[in-house]
Amino acid sequence: MNKGLWISFEGIDGAGKSTHIEGLASAFKSQGRTVTLTREPGGTPLAESLRAMLLNESMDPLSESLIAFAARRDHLNQVILPSLAQGDTVLCDRFTDATFAYQGGGRGVPWETLKTLELMVQGSGDSGQSSQIREPDLTIWFDLDPAVAASRLADARAPDRFESQPLEFFTRVQAGYARRRDENPSRFLTIDASQTKHQVWQQLTRGLVSKGWLSIVTPSTC
Ligand code: TYD
Repeated sequence: MNKGLWISFEGIDGAGKSTHIEGLASAFKSQGRTVTLTREPGGTPLAESLRAMLLNESMDPLSESLIAFAARRDHLNQVILPSLAQGDTVLCDRFTDATFAYQGGGRGVPWETLKTLELMVQGSGDSGQSSQIREPDLTIWFDLDPAVAASRLADARAPDRFESQPLEFFTRVQAGYARRRDENPSRFLTIDASQTKHQVWQQLTRGLVSKGWLSIVTPSTC
């Protein structure tokens, strides 16, 4: 079993997760935990190369999925599992739910195909065929109306291949996240990301305090 704690952060582009991940990393560190802050696709040199391909090169949806899972395999083996084994708190900006949401919901890759890849890549047996899937202890989902997210993104830097998709795409991605949450509600903490930064921070820290993972509600860093 993992000694550490593994939390992933999810949401459509523009949902506002990035600033809060940094804040939570500081909060965990200030309470004496060693934090590994990482992201997907990415987190290793190989996975960062694959990230650049996924975000910039045109390809079909199954290829997107295969690249996301290839990057994940390297990241899991090189960073996440070793960090958990030494007791770290691993904060991961996106994980497998993003592939179900973006490639499954957004692009239409069949859910069952993604489930097969998930088992191959995250299964705990040597051949990846064991039924135990390695996944975060908690997934914090920044739940936001895609139209609101789009308006927040409007002023952002040059969009990548996903950020430049139309509203309908993000509506399907959002539905993909909701499906994942509904399939595994106990793993998810759903955050109402339409609220102010301060209120979102309060929701996050309250959720983590109620699990016993933060000892006090630390002041907002926002
Ligand atoms: P993101 O995590 O939002 O990083 P940044 O804040 O630098 O834009 O960007 C990663 C993009 O990759 C995002 O649009 C979602 C997409 N993505 C997938 O399509 N599939 C995946 O499996 C993952 C992990 C991400």
